[in-house]
Formats: sequence, C-alpha cells, structure tokens
Amino acid sequence: MSETGASIGKPRTRVDGPAKVTGQALYPSDIPISNLAHAWLVVSSISKGRIRSFHLQDALAVPGVLDVLTHENTKGSFRTQPNPGGASGRATTTLESEQVWHDGQIIAVVVAGTRAAAREAAGRVRVEYDSEPPAASFDSNGATEQAVAAVEKDHVDPHTGAADQAYAAAPVKIDGHYATAAQHHNPIELFDTTCLWSGNKLIIHEASQFVHGLRGTVARQLGIDAEDVLVESRFAGGAFGSRGGATSRTALVALAAKRVNRPVRLVASRAQGFTIATYRAETRHRVKLGAAEDGRLQALIHEGWEITSRPANYNVSGTDATSRVYACPNIGTHVSIVHADRNTPGFMRAPPEAPYMFALECAMDELAVALGMDPVELRRMNDTKTDPVDGLPFSSRSLMECFDRAAEAFGWRNRNPQPSSMREGDWLTGWGCATALYPANIGAANVRLSFNPQGSATVALAAHEIGTGTETIIAGIVADRLNLEISKVIVELGRSDLPAAGLAAGSGHASSVCNAVAKACDEVRQRLKASNRDPALAGVIEVYVENIPEGCSPEDAKKLYRGLPSFVSDDKHARYSYGAQFAEVRIHELTREIRVSRLVGAFAAGTIINPVTARSQLMAGMIWGMSGALLEETEIDRRTARYVNTSLSDYLIAVNADVPSVEVIFVPERDEVVNPLGMKGVGELGIVGMNAAIANAVYHATGRRIRDLPLRIESLI
Ligand code: MOS
Repeated sequence: MSETGASIGKPRTRVDGPAKVTGQALYPSDIPISNLAHAWLVVSSISKGRIRSFHLQDALAVPGVLDVLTHENTKGSFRTQPNPGGASGRATTTLESEQVWHDGQIIAVVVAGTRAAAREAAGRVRVEYDSEPPAASFDSNGATEQAVAAVEKDHVDPHTGAADQAYAAAPVKIDGHYATAAQHHNPIELFDTTCLWSGNKLIIHEASQFVHGLRGTVARQLGIDAEDVLVESRFAGGAFGSRGGATSRTALVALAAKRVNRPVRLVASRAQGFTIATYRAETRHRVKLGAAEDGRLQALIHEGWEITSRPANYNVSGTDATSRVYACPNIGTHVSIVHADRNTPGFMRAPPEAPYMFALECAMDELAVALGMDPVELRRMNDTKTDPVDGLPFSSRSLMECFDRAAEAFGWRNRNPQPSSMREGDWLTGWGCATALYPANIGAANVRLSFNPQGSATVALAAHEIGTGTETIIAGIVADRLNLEISKVIVELGRSDLPAAGLAAGSGHASSVCNAVAKACDEVRQRLKASNRDPALAGVIEVYVENIPEGCSPEDAKKLYRGLPSFVSDDKHARYSYGAQFAEVRIHELTREIRVSRLVGAFAAGTIINPVTARSQLMAGMIWGMSGALLEETEIDRRTARYVNTSLSDYLIAVNADVPSVEVIFVPERDEVVNPLGMKGVGELGIVGMNAAIANAVYHATGRRIRDLPLRIESLI
C-alpha cells in the first residue's frame, strides 16, 4: 500500500488461518475452565400470555442441579434490561416478569454440574400459563400497524418534490407489491456465553462484535462498574449482526455464576438461537415508478412494512437507501411497523438494504421491460452525481463503471431480452442484473502500538476478528508502514481491556481500525524521524493514538470505552459504495427446478486494503444473496406464532453444490473524502441486489414475475 492509498493493496492470506484450520483457534465456548457449571435455558412454549406458576421440584431433584433462575427468584437482580429502547428495540427474552411476549422466550435458566443434567432438569420444569391467541405475522388477527414516524420522533421518511402527482402524470408506470421472508442467523458457533467471577470482577467469554458495548451493557444491567468487567472475544464463528448488541442471555449467565459461586457456561441449542438472538424479520413493499418514454424517472414511491415484536419499535427503514440511488425529481417514501407476538428482530447483514433493494431493483427491471429498454441502460439513464433527496454530491460513485465491468465479464451483450428465448435442451436460461449499494461508514478508534526497531511491533486495540480478516489487514498495514515482516507483527485484539476500537458492524470496522492503525504507524515514524535516531540503535517506541474521523464527535474516542458506538455523519457528502450484480439461472422447463449457474459482481468500495479477504467478503455476500433468493425462509406457524424449521436440516441454506461459479471484480476507485485511506467497506455490499438479480433472471427465463422471496419451484408452476 502506498502512502496515499492505492486502489488495491497487497494480497495477503489470513494470519489467523493456520490456527483456524488446525483447530488451535479457541472460540469462546472452547476455552477450558476448571470447576465449570453448565446452564440450559427453559423457553416459553406459548407465544402470548402470562406465566401463572412454576413447578420446580422435579427439576431441582435431578442429581447435580445447582439452581433454577426464574423471574420470581431473581427479582431486583437487574438494574435494567439490555435494550430498554432505542435503535435495537426493547429486548423480549428476559426474566423481567411473568409476561410472555413470544414463543421461545427465556423464562428460566437451569444450572447444573453437567450439561446433560442441566438439560434434563430444564425438561422437567413445569410451567402453567394463561395463554392468549397470538398474532404471527402480517394479516394475523391482532397484528397492529404504526407508521415509524408516529413512534420515533427523529424518523424522517425521505421525500422530495410531489411524488403522487408526478406518478399520476407519468407516461410509463410500474406498481408492484413485493415481499421478503423472515431469515434467522445460523452461525456454526451456537449462541454461547461463559461467565467467571473473581471477587467482584466478572470475566465474560462470548463472541462479540463490540466487546466494549457488551461490557457496558452487562455492567449497567448488573449495577456494577464497567471497569470490573472483562469481555474476551478472540474469535467468532459467525456474527453478521447476531453478536452486535448484548442480548439478555449474558447477564443471566453472569447472575447464575454469582449465585452458584462457580463459572457457568451456556451453549444455547440451535432451535433456541431462533428466539434468543437477532434475525431479519419479514417485510412487504409497494413500489411505484413513473418514467418518461426515454426511461428517465419522474416519480419513485416506496412504501415498506416490517414485522416487529409487541413491545419494540425496531425497524430498518430501507427507503433511506432506495430513495437515494437514482436521479428522480419526485420521491415519496413511507415505512410502517407491524407488531406481532414475536421476538424482537435485529441486525442481519445489510439489514435495510437487502430487503428494500430487492423491491426497488425488481421494480426497475419491470420498468425496463415496460419501456422496452435494456436494464443496464435504464440505470445509466438514471445515474446521478448528487443525492436526489437532499442534493449532496457523492463522495465518489462508480455505479456505471461497476455495471460496465460486470456486464462485459458476464457477456451481457449476448442477451436476448425476450423471456424464455435462451435455452439449452430442457433448461431455460435467464439473465438478470441489479444495483448494489451500501453506506460508507467509519467511526472513532483507539490504538496502542509499540515498535521495536530490532524488527517487530505489537499493535493492540479492541478490534474484532469475526471472520472478516480484520487481524490480517491490521497486521498488513503495520508491516507495510513500518517496513516489517508480517510475521513480526503481533496483533492483540478482541478484549475489552485493550484500547476501545468500536463496533464491528455497518461495514465500517475495517475503515475505522485501519485508519487508526495507519495514524499510529505514522506517529511512530515521525518520532523516529524527530529524534533523528538510528532505528537500529533506538529503543522501543510506544504510541497511543485516538483517531476521530472528520464527521465524528470529538468525544467519540472516549465514549467508545463506555460502550457507545461511533458513526460518521457527513452533511456535505453522500457516501456509498456501489456494485452491479449479474446472475444466470437455469430453470427446467418441465420440473421448474431453479439452479443458479453463474454470478458476477463488480464492486467499487474505495481502497481495498487486502483483495484476498475483501474478495471473500463480497463473494460470500453474493452467495448469501443467492441463498436468500432461492432457499432461506423461517417458516412461521400462523396459529401458534411459532417458528417451525428451527434446525440446520430444515432451515435451508445454500451449500457447496448450490453455489455456482462466482466472479468478484474490484473496480478501482479513489475516494478522498471518506477517510485518509479512502476505504468504503465491503462487509455488506455483496449481499445487496443479489436477491433482485436472481428474481430478474427468473423472469427472463420464464416470463413469470415472482415478487415474493424465496423464489420456489411452486411459484413457477
Ligand atoms: Mo452488521 S448487520 O452491520 O452487524
């Protein structure tokens, strides 16, 4: 990487790769701990109502059982709940009262000397309920709708001009209803927590995307000093938003460990993971597009509806993205939440952009068909240099370069636009494309760097290696800037006793930590230069650096230690990374089996620090987008409001045999606004747009426009 930031950095394989593939990497629940007791959760078997009474005698009689925590016997133990409100939405899986908000809510925690005993005893906890009929989802009796603007005073539905009038007057119109399915995190590492007390100090081993956030939240819940809590999260077996904020389980395990006076480990079951962690709720959309005969958009109207829990207002409001993609003088958007008797949803890879861009990008394809225009040319016609809602210039925008590069690699020019016109034997071929975008985030980060002129360095910061390659890019930056072998750079991360480095989410972690680490390296070099020392003779130089990017508050670096995340806010530019997604599907003419045979994505995300790890982020995002388009759906029993397919065999996820050739193209891009290194982030960009690219390809293969995800054989018969 050059001083000024080249578009593409040095390819480097993962520094933590050998430890992972040889099984030496210890994930939080692998860490050996002596005298460990085990917890098992008891979860509600009704979806709405109250707990009338617990009968614990049979559970307590199981040999080895140490304790059973319920709302009755933990009263007064918690100062507050993990998310009393705010953006993440009030948590519902708590021991706070007899209230049952949803199926699978944590209602008791059994602790025993062995995991088997805890599990057996949990099965013997008898609960009497007063049950009421629950609302499962959209259209259920008792589901209640509210405009987000009515419940969140700071919420704005982006709009400009006079959308309804412009739509009415437009010569070419599209009006479509779209829907996306509920999806649940199924990381290979189950949702686990291990807590140990040593006097009044608490140690937590739990995979986390924000160790300081988890530390602060648990300390607040337990009413203890954050300084007395240490969170360790060296590796995470899948995060994607499921480990971003504290859930209720951590403080429950901490309390259990205090009560039994032993370390306690919880590894929740696969099925319990569906109701104790975050998930992507189902959404509905109505998109109306009005265009001139030449394809120029005159009106864009996007209404969205999202399922949330009964007590929370959690929503993702993706019209913030869909209103800012294309030039259009008249834009109207509106987002509503629909409360059902369900667990509170939460973050999952590109929470707003993935479902909302599915709707918009299918509608754009429909508009292209209505206009008789090539879908790529329709996007070119509506490309823009400024954010259409507030007129701000983009910090950089290479959307059409992405389309051109991907279209060429894909062979798009050979496409016959006529549906069902391309085939091989009994298989119909369909080609589709869509736009991807994701906001370019960055936040404050702190770092300590010590440089030994004999040829090594240790860089310490509470960054998070959640599988993304964070450790590798940090080591690479230090190696490049201080002219060291990468093997001589020790990276300490994933612990809350290190300099706070923020939240690994919103695709902003790499830019936050890399810019901070680069600043620390530059400071070391300046000190070397200023003292005019011969590096070979000098002693160890240690620096501590706070990096507060332009657009963040000066307090942000310190606030991270209190567990408050930092995000840039730029009132002079709109900041996004972009991409173009292309998909080829093959559909059997008689059976209607849908296979994806090729995916091509071209992405412009500013400086790419390490093309090896960045490619793997984008490729995996594309594959998840394909998986969501064709397979993933949490099935909800409409009478009981229960999730039905809560296992890895029933919750379908793309496996190797489903994954075709995937080509990732980096479009070189220089962005001098977003941050000194020019990084825009790649963690979520790759999933956005892929749902629509595949749906559009299915239309091209069959002439059938399917507007509900996932796309299944039965929707094509
Ligand atoms: Mo991610 S959904 O930004 O953790």
